[in-house]
Amino acid sequence: MADAETPTIYLRDYTPPAWLVEEVQLTFRLAPETTRVLSRIRFTPNPEATDRTFVLDGEGLTLISARIDGTEVDPTLTEAGLTCDVPDTAFVWEAEVEIAPASNTALEGLYMSNGMYSTQCEAQGFRKITYYPDRPDVMAPFSVRIESDLPVLLSNGNRVASGEGFAEWHDPWPKPAYLFALVAGELVNLPGSFTTRSGREVELNVWVRPGDEDKCDFAMEALKKSMTWDEKVYGREYDLDIFNIVAVDDFNMGAMENKGLNIFNSSAVLANARTATDANFERIEAIIAHEYFHNWTGNRITCRDWFQLCLKEGLTVFRDAQFTADMRSEPVKRISDVLDLRGRQFREDGGPLAHPVRPESFKEINNFYTATVYEKGAEVIGMLKRLVGDEAYAKALDLYFDRHDGQACTIEDWLRVFEDTTGRDLTQFKRWYSQAGTPRVVMTDDWADGTYTVTLKQSLPDTPGQTGKQPQVIPFAIGLLDPSGQEVVPTTLLELTETEQSFTFAGLADRPIPSPLRGFSAPVVLDRQTDAEERAFLLAHDTDPFNKWEAGRQLAKTALIDMIDGGQAPDDRYLDAVRRVVTDESLDPAFRSLCLGLPSEDDLAQSFADSGRTPDPQAIWDGREAMRGALAEVLSGDLGPLYRAHLVTEPYAPSAEQAGKRSLTNILLSLLTRRDGGAAAQGQFADADNLTQQIGALSALLTNGLGSLELASFAEQWSHERLVMDKWFMIQVAHARPADAARVADALTQRPDFAMTNPNRFRSVFGALAMNQAGFHHASGDGYRLMADWLIRLDPVNPQTTARMCSAFQTWRRYDADRQGMIREQLERIAALPGLSRDTAEMVGRILE
Ligand code: PHE
Ligand code: ZN
Repeated sequence: MADAETPTIYLRDYTPPAWLVEEVQLTFRLAPETTRVLSRIRFTPNPEATDRTFVLDGEGLTLISARIDGTEVDPTLTEAGLTCDVPDTAFVWEAEVEIAPASNTALEGLYMSNGMYSTQCEAQGFRKITYYPDRPDVMAPFSVRIESDLPVLLSNGNRVASGEGFAEWHDPWPKPAYLFALVAGELVNLPGSFTTRSGREVELNVWVRPGDEDKCDFAMEALKKSMTWDEKVYGREYDLDIFNIVAVDDFNMGAMENKGLNIFNSSAVLANARTATDANFERIEAIIAHEYFHNWTGNRITCRDWFQLCLKEGLTVFRDAQFTADMRSEPVKRISDVLDLRGRQFREDGGPLAHPVRPESFKEINNFYTATVYEKGAEVIGMLKRLVGDEAYAKALDLYFDRHDGQACTIEDWLRVFEDTTGRDLTQFKRWYSQAGTPRVVMTDDWADGTYTVTLKQSLPDTPGQTGKQPQVIPFAIGLLDPSGQEVVPTTLLELTETEQSFTFAGLADRPIPSPLRGFSAPVVLDRQTDAEERAFLLAHDTDPFNKWEAGRQLAKTALIDMIDGGQAPDDRYLDAVRRVVTDESLDPAFRSLCLGLPSEDDLAQSFADSGRTPDPQAIWDGREAMRGALAEVLSGDLGPLYRAHLVTEPYAPSAEQAGKRSLTNILLSLLTRRDGGAAAQGQFADADNLTQQIGALSALLTNGLGSLELASFAEQWSHERLVMDKWFMIQVAHARPADAARVADALTQRPDFAMTNPNRFRSVFGALAMNQAGFHHASGDGYRLMADWLIRLDPVNPQTTARMCSAFQTWRRYDADRQGMIREQLERIAALPGLSRDTAEMVGRILE
């Protein structure tokens, strides 16, 4: 369907459903190409609706028969479902449909992969399983019977019966269809158990394909920690007798919170020391927690409609971030999250795909599972918590759970619990949900008669479809240091509500040095004219770990931009300051590692664009290389000793403590490799008994143009481990020189173990190509062409993953006319494809607009 023909859906058009569902019974007779789905649905008129039209959603279904109250009926089939004459009182709808899971490569609805059946229904996949009012405000208890010879048959809720060739499940908690799930296959499980605070015994399982049994322990532990944490911190208990997690290889996203049956991309659950990195372990712990936390924030309280997606996602991301901060290091988590926010969300906010945290229109909801909805959605909650305080936040959440349990809610409901607990008017705060774009806050300061004055001025750029924006409430945390480095004003929260506002601090002996926007208290771009001395001072003295890191980052960025743009030598003040941090044994190695990292190519490109200059991807790449050379030089005497002092040699544990050391030694190793011809990296590669050190060594070699032998031996060692091989694909593209990246990626796609039907493998190559900025944007245009060629191939197979990958092009207007011309050509080539999916059509259309 061409983009122009696809209807746009608007938030303002919401109407309550005409019919509610009291109960659903489903029977699945599984067969790869001819699965029969029998449904028995008890409908009742919605007293809140006036209209009684009966419309069911359905896509790609073959209707075999339909009955109302036992009498055969002949519904009118439409492109999007069916309509039928129905009684005006409660009735029972029965239908039998046929679907073909083995041919379903879109991975939405019921699909088969590697001999196993699984489902993905969020957001609108249930309509590919049977005719149903597929909208989240229709909630019902489900009973499911699965008929199949496969040994493991799972669905939501509790198991009520099973025997030769069948299993029956009942989920007593009313839920929307998007939370339905079914799994059938030859699976093995790691069993576990958990006793809830009020004494409910819960059976836990992690289900995997035979051969992966050795990669389940960590997920099981993470699940138990999540269950304990949610009881302790939010007072939320689990509410069924069983909780199943299943690993699936072919999956579009990270994982899915289906009630009692979470389905995970295998990359987001399987881990052991040999096959997963520290970063994987941390991500798995966070995703397990995220999906588990959805049981309350998403499932027990769900969304009225898909415009409210941030209601469950923003809150659940916020909760999983709190969990990770508690399990690991709070400052390290905050810094990583801000890096991610700036890298993905600011980038989105600054381009053609910008949209509010609560979008007001869409064509394909799958395109709105974005960094803005998730990560900015979480930031908004963090701001709310800061503004009302921890105690009020806890009270508001209790009220939210009490008042809305079992309901499908809106952002208005969410904000109202805060208004009701605090008496605060959140009208202005609500603009964070409706206005797109990243606010810019210009800070100036003044000093007179012992009084320090801070003036903040906010502005919000125009975004697609939005101009003339109103000021937002910006919680601005600030601390003040005296010239000796002592903190004279501890972290204080300024509430910026006007376009421009001044705040004073009286009674100070000396002009203080400000530490602004501590903890990144609001997702804004802070614009403050300052110099390298002040930044170096903050890097040395700030008590706020985020701002300490931020000072170093700003130093690095300025130094890099001066090198790239002005041809200046690497700034000694930056190099000295970094050297001091990296060699400071009183600091956490993870923190030191973060301080040693350089701003990404994309981050630098965005800085150029923000100041009205055209970024040159090759010059940015060269600048970072030169800076790495300068770092290696200035640290030359320290690299070896520091590396050896922090190299972890004790048995591997995925702890934050060990991970921090490995992170530091890996980054030191990549600098060391510039100087020792690869000796240390080859040594680490050979000795490594864990993937973090093995991949770290391999990356150090590849980044420095070495490592072809190691690359080959790695492939041989891991050819049977698909998740490890994904990394092998990825790092080659990620570390390829700009002129080689497209060729390397192209060659990888010709290998027999490249399969575009597997989103993980596809992303390993093309996600990495998009990340390799200088390679993707190479002046030859090869990167653009290759990307477009493969998006064109993938679209008919898997529209969702294709559409998501289109975002590689979202920054195109930053670049010079030649590059813009080449990108436009590729985007137009995609847009012109006959039969292009709604998903991709919408994305390309928005990017080109
Ligand atoms: N709801 C899932 C999550 O946040 C993400 C998801 C969306 C998965 C759509 C699949 C499809 O955890
Ligand atoms: Zn989620």
